[in-house]
Amino acid sequence: MNAPAKNDDFAQKPAAIPDGVYAETVLAVEHYTDRLFRFRMTRPAGYRFRSGEFAMIGLMVGEKPIYRAYSIASPAWDEELEFFSIKVPDGPLTSHLQKIKPGDTVLMRKKPTGTLVLDALTPGKRLYMFSTGTGIAPFASLIRDPETYEKFDEVILTHTCREVAELKYGFGLMEEIRNHEFLAEIVGDKLKHYPTVTREDYPFQGRITDLIENGKMFTDLGVPPLDPAIDRGMICGSSAMLKDTKELLEKAGLTEGANNKPAEFVIERAFVG
Ligand code: A2P
Repeated sequence: MNAPAKNDDFAQKPAAIPDGVYAETVLAVEHYTDRLFRFRMTRPAGYRFRSGEFAMIGLMVGEKPIYRAYSIASPAWDEELEFFSIKVPDGPLTSHLQKIKPGDTVLMRKKPTGTLVLDALTPGKRLYMFSTGTGIAPFASLIRDPETYEKFDEVILTHTCREVAELKYGFGLMEEIRNHEFLAEIVGDKLKHYPTVTREDYPFQGRITDLIENGKMFTDLGVPPLDPAIDRGMICGSSAMLKDTKELLEKAGLTEGANNKPAEFVIERAFVG
């Protein structure tokens, strides 16, 4: 018979958006590799966050919302929200999220949070942002925030990926800043980008931890070794990367801070792996 089964009938109705969350509209999607993409969406009126914080982002999958923590990659002043995401083929959220198109709805819980914020650091001169993979996302926010350059004379963004193609988002950010009508002047030559690759030939090669330990990062950047009196750090990557980088900063005499106890460095896991 041609009559649809009762279940099909039911599935065709759009699932109701849960109470108490924002339902925002996707504005743009850009795919970088088969593992990485970014999207921009509308920002709810009155939604406030500090650059570097993360939000819970979700989609209705069938009748149920599925959420994951995502660093907000856009700065606090931006009218839109940007996110940088991995695509996991069988990931509960990213297998669906990677298919979004402009006009689609993305859910966001109301409260942003996180430790990769300028307030969690004591005053210093040079700010290192150590990232691997999608761990660059919170720094995409912070390097586009004028407050970062009010607080620091020099900002060094390190980004390590397995392959060269995965560095593209970071290069795009640098270009955007250079061409931006007001950021270009505020940032000037304070921001240095240090991209490295671990599984392909590239002028800058190796894990950031190795490049700190053997001193090559400092030589390449033309900066002195880590100094707890002036250097500050933020770390975002996999759990193993956080642990290893944190150990190196502690060895150099820096201590870990938090929102309620600012110190010389802060860490946050790059959530969706
Ligand atoms: P490698 O290729 O040597 O594993 P992933 O996608 O696995 O999160 O890795 C992203 C990047 O982070 C890769 O370049 C990877 O290097 C590097 N990486 C992985 N684990 C660590 C670690 N414990 N310390 C520093 N870098 C790491």
